[in-house]
Amino acid sequence: MKKKLIAGNWKMNGGLAFNESLVAALRAGTVPPDCDVAVCVPAPYLAHLQTLLAGSAIALGAQDVSQYESGAYTGEVSTAMLKDFGVRYAIVGHSERRLYHGETDGAVSAKTARALAAGITPIVCVGETLAEREAGQTEEVVKRQLAAVIHVNGHCISEIVVAYEPVWAIGTGKTASPEQAQQVHAVLRAQLHAATDRSALMRILYGGSMNAANAAQLLAQPDIDGGLIGGAALKAPDFLTIVAAA
Ligand code: 13P
Repeated sequence: MKKKLIAGNWKMNGGLAFNESLVAALRAGTVPPDCDVAVCVPAPYLAHLQTLLAGSAIALGAQDVSQYESGAYTGEVSTAMLKDFGVRYAIVGHSERRLYHGETDGAVSAKTARALAAGITPIVCVGETLAEREAGQTEEVVKRQLAAVIHVNGHCISEIVVAYEPVWAIGTGKTASPEQAQQVHAVLRAQLHAATDRSALMRILYGGSMNAANAAQLLAQPDIDGGLIGGAALKAPDFLTIVAAA
């Protein structure tokens, strides 16, 4: 039985006092046994979060990972460094990294491979911009992004988590409707199916203004296996409501 996954992406938010109070509130809540929960935090706080989450059912995640093993890559964080702090998941290819840091499909594929080789589950993000959706290119764009990752990772693709994050829905309060999201998730599932016989067991998350009010409807869709949560992951009651909805 495939468990749902609810992962918080804190983005560039947090601080020592903030982390402590948010995690205390999360730990006071309930994580149902049939749901995996993770928080993906800024790299400087990985050690802090490892301590705060010790003994809890909440896993630790990073927001990015280097495609290189080690060496002269100023500012980069390697899989080995993430492993030192018990990191289980790494977001890869978030649209904010593609947009602001010029991450290409090739870099995203290489990061995915690097994470898989280290035993860290990559959460690979794909998604179209508003202009691309309006031009009728949604399927083409997400399929191109995922195809690059499949091409480089071969049969190991069954070990990744995919996150569909329409760029126009991120941080805008505009959520894809459950039907819009399901439509794209079905396309991604079919693409995974062509690459691995384990596609039905893989998790495809939705991300983009998922919140306490809309989570249940989105998570009820047949191909939506969880959520990648931005803003709502910074408020414990909202995040726990989404976990409960899963
Ligand atoms: P919001 O939930 O704030 O829209 O962010 C979604 C996201 O980008 C998660 O990675």
